[in-house]
Amino acid sequence: MKKLSFTLLVLLFVMQVIAQTPARKKQMITLADKTLNFAAGQYKLMMQHLPDTVLPRSTNNMTGKLVTAKSDWWTAGFYPGTLWYLYEYTKDNTLKKEAIKRDSLVEKEKNNKHTHDLGFMMYCSFGNAYRLTNNPAYKEVLLTSARSLSTRFNPKVGCIKSWDHGAWEYPVIIDNMMNLELLTWASRVTHDTSFAHIARTHANTTMLHHFRENYSSYHVVAYDSTTGAVIKRQTHQGAADSSAWSRGQAWGLYGYTMMYRETKDKRYLDQAQHIADFILNNPRMPKDLIPIWDYDAPKVTMNVDSPDPTPRDASAGAVAASALLELSRYVKGTASTRYWNAGEKMLESLCSPDYLAKPGENNDFILKHSVGSLPHKSEVDVPLTYADYYFVEALLRYKQWAK
Ligand code: GLY
Repeated sequence: MKKLSFTLLVLLFVMQVIAQTPARKKQMITLADKTLNFAAGQYKLMMQHLPDTVLPRSTNNMTGKLVTAKSDWWTAGFYPGTLWYLYEYTKDNTLKKEAIKRDSLVEKEKNNKHTHDLGFMMYCSFGNAYRLTNNPAYKEVLLTSARSLSTRFNPKVGCIKSWDHGAWEYPVIIDNMMNLELLTWASRVTHDTSFAHIARTHANTTMLHHFRENYSSYHVVAYDSTTGAVIKRQTHQGAADSSAWSRGQAWGLYGYTMMYRETKDKRYLDQAQHIADFILNNPRMPKDLIPIWDYDAPKVTMNVDSPDPTPRDASAGAVAASALLELSRYVKGTASTRYWNAGEKMLESLCSPDYLAKPGENNDFILKHSVGSLPHKSEVDVPLTYADYYFVEALLRYKQWAK
């Protein structure tokens, strides 16, 4: 028995080493290049088909038609953000021109004080625009956005309020971790530490109240805004209050990895590793490492040809892949190899015909098979603009870090 487990360990080690060989990386870089070129072509078609005043969001799975959004929807920044990434890769000015055109639609949201989503909306769009152009006008848009987002922080609760809608007095969702990067960036460029203070306090409070013993997270934690006490823990987009909604786990993983990068606080790194381990050790994680929509989802027969008929969420896979590649850089040894290999495998799966669209199909989105909100029967097994954004980001990260 002992001999068998030793042999198994050696085998696992050898497999990990093989997965890290230069030949494997070379093959993956070639695949990433091919996929990025396809993505750029696909978004050039999107440019031609998209009405001037809106942003692409998804596909209506009843009619098959493109679903678009106005600038105040939480996904508004992902299309210009993806265009900026694809411009960075191709240096193709038509993509840059389109990114600038769509950013101009989103700009007015810098004054929006009614949502926590400003990080998604403004940092993905204008953050990339500023990073790539150094245009001071973009910096001003971002700083105004950071000020707007900060107005939603309540020191008594220690969190930014996520939503103004719903039955909760002070709801905070795990997704909110993603909006903190706008604030840490704002502190860095202004030397005003109040933005970073809000980000750190929010991350600390979330660490305390959003996570279960196994490091899976609740979706919504509702607070009392006067005392800061937790009133209830629930789901909104997951299978149950007690379940692990896949994209929520991915937002948490990405959020704490990012917070470690921004602060070098070891507690955030530990938290990110715990979340990664929950995801990667999950018994319901499929072999191709693209998560089902909720790790505790009931088995349902949607895609009868699929061996596991529970719908997948490619967006959760794309967010997790991008985060795992980054996390692997902050740890050493077998943990680092494990996170890198998992991120790489997720990308390889997403680059396969199982998830990648064919040219001109899929309403010109890049990835198929994501889930927006299954309990609301909304956006089930469709493309989603944020799946494309984090997929392209992860491909660029892979190419940069594989070297
Ligand atoms: N932030 C909303 C979602 O992940 O669906």
